[in-house]
Amino acid sequence: MTPPRSATAIAPANIAFIKYWGMQDVARTLPYNGSISMNLDACLTTTTVTFDPDLAEDELILRLYAGPAAATPARRAAGRPLERVSAQLGRLRALAGVGWRARVESANNFPSDAGIASSAAAFAALTLAGVAALGLDLDERELSLWTRRGGSGSACRSIPSGYAEWCVPGGPFDATSWDAESYAVSLAPPEHWALADVVAVVDAGVKKIGSAENHRLAATSAYFPARLAELPARLAATRDAIARRDLELLGATIEADAVSMHVVCMTSRPPSFYWNSGTMTVIHAVREWHAAGLYSYFTIDAGSNVHVICAAPDRAQLERRLAALPGVQFVLGNAVGMGARVVEMSNL
Ligand code: PMV
Repeated sequence: MTPPRSATAIAPANIAFIKYWGMQDVARTLPYNGSISMNLDACLTTTTVTFDPDLAEDELILRLYAGPAAATPARRAAGRPLERVSAQLGRLRALAGVGWRARVESANNFPSDAGIASSAAAFAALTLAGVAALGLDLDERELSLWTRRGGSGSACRSIPSGYAEWCVPGGPFDATSWDAESYAVSLAPPEHWALADVVAVVDAGVKKIGSAENHRLAATSAYFPARLAELPARLAATRDAIARRDLELLGATIEADAVSMHVVCMTSRPPSFYWNSGTMTVIHAVREWHAAGLYSYFTIDAGSNVHVICAAPDRAQLERRLAALPGVQFVLGNAVGMGARVVEMSNL
């Protein structure tokens, strides 16, 4: 009998500068548009996957973040989270030609399901640990592609290092060819540009509307076609801003894209509203600071927490200012992070 194999991987969350919003094909996780993000060095998921021929079913054990000073008790997950993990393990098992079930243990060091891309970090770590534990030999492109198929599309951007773009093939949509060509690549390594992302956490609780449901509703918004028409120019501006390290161009572009994504949410049928009063407080403060010469810019994923992007030397000042705002529970400061990596492998 082949011995069970185990691997541990760490993957970062990422913040989308240009958002992936809306799916053309739900089964294959294919987007309408390309997206660009930055990996976060301090918001990490660590996942161990152990394939064990003696297991009858996949098992999922989660250690979710419970606050800056709190312990993180382990709990056994069932229902939808286990189904999603098991489905992704099933894809990897089919690729490797094995039937073994697995024990998955996953720990986050930041709040889950609160618009801080916890599912991106989780699916990137799960896929990489699963691939390593099965001894599959995949390059970064294939790894990103298989990660995307896991259902949290943005996870494919947590595989490459630093600044990453999830590209969509040119031409009309075709599910089969797009499925084979939709993955993320690194635009620049972390050391290319020392930016910071200070996340102002205004609600550490689980968000009420998951992005999976809302991707399906995007196309019901009358504003969605206008958003898609604007995106090629915004993607080009973002690539250019990263290449030239132009913070003002990057900032103006990411703020416009965040507002555009949330307008789609607010005009979908039914509509959804992620922002709360704390979100607005942070947006107004960032705009005032910016007008006074502190170059910081906001962006918001599918949640109420605000990511404030700035040059690394301004990070400490922004952390202090953001933490002092009414409605901000705590802040999470990040530099630009590496991509997903394997940290341990063993034959049990
Ligand atoms: O990858 P998902 O299904 O969790 O969706 C991510 C959606 C956003 O975070 C709002 C945008 C993005 O590109 O990360």
